[in-house]
Amino acid sequence: MSVRTVTVSTTVAALLGGSGLLLAASQTQAAGTHDAPVVFAHRGASAYAPENTLAAVDAADDLGIDWVENDVQRTRDGVLVVMHDTNLKRTTDVEELFPERAPWAVKDFTAAEIARLDAGSWFGAQFAGARVPTLEQYLHQVERNHQGLLLEIKSPETYPGIEKDTLQVLQNEGWLNRHHVKHKLIIQSFGAESVKAVHAQRPDVVTGFLGTPAVADLPSYAAFTDQINPSHGTLSADYVAAVQELKGAHGKPLQVNTWTVNDAATAAKVAGFGVDGIITNNPDVVRDATG
Ligand code: G3P
Ligand code: CA
Repeated sequence: MSVRTVTVSTTVAALLGGSGLLLAASQTQAAGTHDAPVVFAHRGASAYAPENTLAAVDAADDLGIDWVENDVQRTRDGVLVVMHDTNLKRTTDVEELFPERAPWAVKDFTAAEIARLDAGSWFGAQFAGARVPTLEQYLHQVERNHQGLLLEIKSPETYPGIEKDTLQVLQNEGWLNRHHVKHKLIIQSFGAESVKAVHAQRPDVVTGFLGTPAVADLPSYAAFTDQINPSHGTLSADYVAAVQELKGAHGKPLQVNTWTVNDAATAAKVAGFGVDGIITNNPDVVRDATG
């Protein structure tokens, strides 16, 4: 955790006298209102290491980045793995190892099969042998680095019940204890029903909706989410203000974390809009442009 975030969190905790519920959302809100936007390393520091691998988690940590974002899906035998695309082609050697298994969908492979794949060579020879992590392995690495996790439930319509499965793994690994829920975990999805399901099953967990709902619809989202997380291309200062003037599911101002901002000029622009967080492949670039 960076000195800056520690300072902000400590200040807010002191103001609350330790008696209030200090959610991760309020932690990032504090950084957003008093300081630079919180920086989330998108799929890890994915400009520098293969996305969604443990190497990308460590690359973010090496840069001093406190939060990583990932994408969670489910294997044929029910294991949660960290992978962005719903097929394994782009970021692994699956076509070589399993040439007969087109279209190589994540959901059609067992965890043992996926564990054999090389998820690093496509990015660079120095990452040869990097694996597709299970969510469990991923959580261990993030924990080891004392980072926070912005966990995206990817393609929830493909994986009925994945919200319950995700919460179960988080529970098993200690990520639903008070400390993690307050300071270390946000669950987001493009699927409103998925975010609603997480909120219904674990109302204490901070949630985010990925997208840009119409301003008139924002109050209905605020009933089940703490964050509206839009693509930066859809953003304006007025939209950010419209979100932030509402209260989210935990009674705190609704937040905005925007994606995927990879250059300094755009980072400065969205910071000027007042966003609470920026999700980026180049977390060092965004931090330096907004800090
Ligand atoms: O966290 C925001 C971002 O990850 C959403 O888009 O396609 O990269 O998962 P995508
Ligand atoms: Ca994502």
